[in-house]
Amino acid sequence: MAIERTLSIIKPDAVAKNVIGQIYTRFENAGLKIVAARMAQLSRAEAEGFYAVHAARPFFKDLVDFMVSGPVIIQVLEGENAIAKHRDLMGATDPKKAEKGTIRADFADSIDANAVHGSDAEETAKTEIAYFFPALNVYSR
Ligand code: PPS
Repeated sequence: MAIERTLSIIKPDAVAKNVIGQIYTRFENAGLKIVAARMAQLSRAEAEGFYAVHAARPFFKDLVDFMVSGPVIIQVLEGENAIAKHRDLMGATDPKKAEKGTIRADFADSIDANAVHGSDAEETAKTEIAYFFPALNVYSR
């Protein structure tokens, strides 16, 4: 199975709930290694750039407003099948539809404030990692 890297964000709602450690424990227990991490208060420009692919969606402004509403923790996770594994840990985008025991089922309140972000494919992961960790390719796999 392929060793992959994926971009993970613990969103402002989960940071405010003080569950960073609980979320990190889930990553570690699933065999995902945190190979880069930082806390950040995103600017509007950074959030808009990150979500540019969704710029035409009706929820774009709400999504950006939410992502700049408080600090986030951004990390790169590495492990076997990391992209799919991380998405399984997160659960469905809408916490009401997320499977029991997933991060969103346990910590998210709504589709607007849904606790975590994770890259959805290999190409997206590369772009997203480079967006927040431009120097990481210096020692990337
Ligand atoms: S898609 O088409 O599969 O990419 O869309 P989806 O993954 O469902 O959503 C993309 C991101 O937009 C967020 N989202 C929303 N934000 C605010 N309000 C509403 N209604 C809403 N619907 C979706 C969703 O959480 C995704 O953010 P990330 O950070 O990628 O998880």
